[in-house]
Amino acid sequence: MFELADLCNRLQRLWGSVPNVFQAPGRVNLIGEHTDYNDGFVLPAAIQLQTRAAITPVAGRQVIVESAAYDRTEFDLDDPQPAPRNDWSDYVRGTAWSLEHQGVRLKGARLFIDSDIPPGAGLSSSAALEVAAALALLSNAGVTLGPAEIAKVCHRAENEFIGIRSGIMDQFASCNGRSGHALLLDCRSLEVRYVAIPRDITLMVCNTMVRHELAAGEYNARRQQCEEGVAVLSRFLPGIHALRDVTQEQLARFSAELDPVIHRRCRHVIEENCRVLLATQALESGDPRTFGALMQASHQSLRLDYEVSCPELDLMCELALGVNGVYGARMMGGGFGGCVLALARTSASENFRRTVEAGYRCRTGIDCEIYECSTSDGAGPLTIGATQGG
Ligand code: GLA
Repeated sequence: MFELADLCNRLQRLWGSVPNVFQAPGRVNLIGEHTDYNDGFVLPAAIQLQTRAAITPVAGRQVIVESAAYDRTEFDLDDPQPAPRNDWSDYVRGTAWSLEHQGVRLKGARLFIDSDIPPGAGLSSSAALEVAAALALLSNAGVTLGPAEIAKVCHRAENEFIGIRSGIMDQFASCNGRSGHALLLDCRSLEVRYVAIPRDITLMVCNTMVRHELAAGEYNARRQQCEEGVAVLSRFLPGIHALRDVTQEQLARFSAELDPVIHRRCRHVIEENCRVLLATQALESGDPRTFGALMQASHQSLRLDYEVSCPELDLMCELALGVNGVYGARMMGGGFGGCVLALARTSASENFRRTVEAGYRCRTGIDCEIYECSTSDGAGPLTIGATQGG
């Protein structure tokens, strides 16, 4: 990624004007996987890896998007039927579409996107791109929206324009992160409680470097299965709207009514919601061991009940857990590849890196990447003179 001053100088030479620059962070999720689209609880934290969007106005309603990593592309804000082109620019175009859908009248612009979030690793590179683009386009239009509204606009872009029926966790964490903290998010009310992460704990993110093809299709299929579970259970439990409303006892009572696969999917979500609340308590009361045990239970549930893990993720967890000073490890994000998050004592991080890298190479022949993540604030402007913050 370009250093900020360097980026501004380059663009000033190219564009003939000083750009406004906005950043949006990626995120880790400490616990609470596949709960967000079930109106449940999640515990993500924004991280130092980020996407930047630099912008300058142009006359008319054309948006030109350039990036260090991808081909230049452009689109017309007046396109009567904007449709995805199945490339990276869809996230920018989808965000523009969603903002206009929300009633914001955008203006023509030239954008430059730069990022150090590895794509496809489960660190929310796409949400960060949406949020950074939203901030830039809003500032260019002279319109201000609050962080929760921006998260909702970007979430709609992902659901309705891109077609992935994801929950709101990624966009919300990118907009609302706080340095030194994770955020306990109630995905139904969007209420947040910030939870401090002790200084002597490090977030080690281990990229398996694999991404299995089924990821997107299986994601939507899981969501559908959860909805099927709610439809059956609501015959016995009138008034429930989502798996968030079902207790473990209720699920056990009506388990015979559910197809066994649907039952396992529901069990994961209902138990995972409980684990998020218990893990938050553990973090708040300075008990990383209990937190780690809950992370392991989460991984096992994602592997056996939700069936979204894969051999590489399981191996990465096993290797991480074998290192001295690691409290817990689990797969993170949608699944079928991407990253494992391990919670480790800070003093263990060097040994962790050496041991896990060597073990993973030896067992798979693949060189993994390990990112030692620090937490960061949510999205916002990076240049003096910017008109819109997150
Ligand atoms: C992806 C989605 C999120 C969430 C996770 C699973 O990262 O974008 O909304 O559903 O998967 O927890």
